[in-house]
Amino acid sequence: MNRGLFITLEGVDGAGKSTHLEWLSEQFREHGRTVRVTREPGGTPLGERLRDLLLNSPMHAETEALLFFAARREHLARVIQPALEAGEVVISDRFTDASFAYQCGGRGLPEARLETLEAWVQAGLQPDLTLLFDVAREVAESRRSTVREPDRFEQERADFHDRVRQAYLHRASRYPQRIKVINANQSVEAVRRQLLTLLEPWL
Ligand code: TYD
Repeated sequence: MNRGLFITLEGVDGAGKSTHLEWLSEQFREHGRTVRVTREPGGTPLGERLRDLLLNSPMHAETEALLFFAARREHLARVIQPALEAGEVVISDRFTDASFAYQCGGRGLPEARLETLEAWVQAGLQPDLTLLFDVAREVAESRRSTVREPDRFEQERADFHDRVRQAYLHRASRYPQRIKVINANQSVEAVRRQLLTLLEPWL
C-alpha cells in the first residue's frame, strides 16, 4: 500500500508544540506534499463533542481513558486512515502517547489497560514519527499561567504535570526510533533548527 506519512506532536501542557504546528506543515507543503493538520481529542465532529466533555466534565479516570480512545477510533476511521491511504502527510496535535502520559502517568491507570485499547483501536497502526516537546517544569508552568480559561488538565497540580512529563520521557526511551525528544526550553528559532534536523530524512 502506498501509505502517506503520520507525524504526531506531544508534550505537557505549556510545552509549546502548537506554536510549531503550522510551520511544520509548511515544510512539507514546500516540498509539494498534501498535509492534513488535525488534533486529539477532536479531529471529527463527534470527536470535537467528546473533546468538550473530556476537557470540561469531571469523570472517572477509566471513563476518561475510554472516551479518548473512542474519539481516536473515529479520528482514525474518518480522517487519519483515509488521508494516509491517499498518500498525504497527517500531522496530529497529540495521539496515543498522550493517553499513556496523562491517563497512566498522570492519573495512574495501569499501562496494560491502555495497551489493550491501543491494540483494538489502532490494529498495529503507529505514527512514523513523534516529536516530543520537552520542557522544564518552570517553563511549562509559566506558559500555562497565561491561559485565560484553563481546562481540567491545565488546572491539575504541578506533580500531575511532572508525572505526565516523566511518562512521556519513559515512552521516548522505550521507542527511541519513533519518538524524538525536542528541547523546547529554547527560543522558537532554536526549536525550529532541531525540528529541521529531525525532519530531514522525511522531507
Ligand atoms: P491540547 O489540545 O494540547 O490542549 P490545548 O488546546 O489547551 O492546547 O490537549 C487537550 C488536553 O487533553 C491536554 O491537557 C492533554 C489531554 N489529553 C489526554 O489526557 N489524553 C489523551 O489521550 C489526549 C489526546 C489528550
